[in-house]
Amino acid sequence: MKTARLFAHLRKHHRKTGRPLVTLSYAQSLDGSITTRRGVPLSLSGRESLRLWHRLRVCHDAILVGIGTVLADDPQLNVRLVTGSDPQPVIIDTSLRFPLKALALNSSKSPWIITTQKGDSKKQKRLESLGAHVIRLKKTRRGWVDLRSVLEYLAQRGVDSVMVEGGARIITSFLKAQLADRFVITITPFFVGGVHAIEELLPRTKQGRDVRLEKTRILGYEWYGRDLVLWGTLK
Ligand SMILES: NC(=O)c1ccc[n+]([C@@H]2O[C@H](COP(=O)([O-])OP(=O)(O)OC[C@H]3O[C@@H](n4cnc5c(N)ncnc54)[C@H](OP(=O)(O)O)[C@@H]3O)[C@@H](O)[C@H]2O)c1
Repeated sequence: MKTARLFAHLRKHHRKTGRPLVTLSYAQSLDGSITTRRGVPLSLSGRESLRLWHRLRVCHDAILVGIGTVLADDPQLNVRLVTGSDPQPVIIDTSLRFPLKALALNSSKSPWIITTQKGDSKKQKRLESLGAHVIRLKKTRRGWVDLRSVLEYLAQRGVDSVMVEGGARIITSFLKAQLADRFVITITPFFVGGVHAIEELLPRTKQGRDVRLEKTRILGYEWYGRDLVLWGTLK
């Protein structure tokens, strides 16, 4: 079966650290764009790769996006195109900008919204009255949610695998913090000239290693209709 190799790859990787396994998974154009302009939705994936995306959701315990993606796309963050259970939606949102009418509030699993001390407590109560679970965690020096703390929290809640779907800032932060273990990237046959999936990556980590040259391996690829799906591992 076509997807067998990809799913064998996903099954082969087990959690080796105290944190969940992180899969970066997004769709990009040939020039590396994930959308035209920040805050604007753009549907890139074709029917076949979209179905695959939903299958990937089924085999992860949680699905994580940044607040920028919620505001732009209003995603449901659930499984619809295949049968299987919904992963736990997790949203990273420093100051609780999460809309009270977001579609993710209607999914079978109520979202976990991870914020910092900056999140307004009245907004927290309103979100909680709609079923969301609001969690306050540490902030980074930049004032954003600390992703390492997010993964520690998810591990405590029994989450073993997380599919990080975007957007650009979240994907970049996972790469910079070296918290991503593997990737499944859909490449679609368009030139968009928009917002790149990865923003600037600092050349060196504190340990003096070059992030861009870290061992990233492409382990396989398959065509899904007109889209090319590549998967592999990051060190
Ligand atoms: N093609 C695809 O597969 C795909 C997938 C997803 C999204 N997208 C597109 O991507 C765009 C959204 O991307 P985006 O970069 O603007 O937003 P994003 O990555 O979804 O969210 C970024 C926001 O999350 C918050 N944040 C909190 N802690 C963070 C941390 N440690 N690292 C990074 N961000 C953190 C920040 O906002 P606060 O300071 O307010 O918390 C930040 O601006 C949309 O246009 C969407 O359509 C495309």
